[in-house]
Amino acid sequence: MSLNWQKICEQAITWATEAGEVIRESFEDQLTIETKSNADDLVTNMDREIEGFLINKINENYPDHKILGEEGIGEKIDSLKGTVWLIDPIDGTMNFVHQQTNFAISIGVYNEGIGMVGIIYNVVYDEMFYAIKGEGAYLNGRELPKLSDVMIEESIVAVNATWITENRRIDPSVLAPIVKKCRGTRSYGSAAIELAFVAAGRLDAYITMRLSPWDFAAGKILIEEVGGMVTTLNGEPLRLLEQNSVFAAKTGLHERIISDYIKG
Ligand code: IPD
Ligand code: CA
Ligand code: CA
Repeated sequence: MSLNWQKICEQAITWATEAGEVIRESFEDQLTIETKSNADDLVTNMDREIEGFLINKINENYPDHKILGEEGIGEKIDSLKGTVWLIDPIDGTMNFVHQQTNFAISIGVYNEGIGMVGIIYNVVYDEMFYAIKGEGAYLNGRELPKLSDVMIEESIVAVNATWITENRRIDPSVLAPIVKKCRGTRSYGSAAIELAFVAAGRLDAYITMRLSPWDFAAGKILIEEVGGMVTTLNGEPLRLLEQNSVFAAKTGLHERIISDYIKG
């Protein structure tokens, strides 16, 4: 049976909107905050509640679909066969805890490994970014224009300072020249928001050394719909069931950064 992606997109928008409402209403409540792999890796009761809410909605409507969620309430997934939902209930939990802004709900729906629907909801700004494969990307009902190329000297690049100082994943001297050459850098602390902003042309590129599939699943679909590129930092295709470095950018800028700074 073929799936109705328009309907799936509308449902995912409805569920993200409802989840956003629940999160906004929780701002006055006491949060339970725990750490996961290290002291900077936070999870709250709201991350779990929202993941559970989304999983229930998906299961009720699409019992044969698979779900990969950050908090692990969904099942273990070892293949992209069939339809897989990759969800991050709160992307930017540190911002959620410390700032109560700059976090997003991210939902990507893949069919046989191909991105079909991407939703990123910037909760506090009430910005709903969404895309259906082949039908363009939208922000609150308005179609996002196709991305045009930009030279690095006129670009804004999102990159976290971690990757320009000593770290375990990349020699800081690789990315430092990009930071020097571009017009400016930004770091929002939510990969989903950073990817949505690349799709919307607010950022020209986003570089990070380690994201999980639920962090980039939706953003990749949005950016590809407006003609941008999302790969690993070496320009290879992202693996959807593993952690990856992620490099998203306008197409020409993407090619030049790889040839001049990464492989050059
Ligand atoms: C994190 C954010 C952050 C990125 C981290 C992610 P979380 O997601 O997207 O911007 O740098 O790698 O883990 O834990 O807040 O959902
Ligand atoms: Ca995340
Ligand atoms: Ca998260």
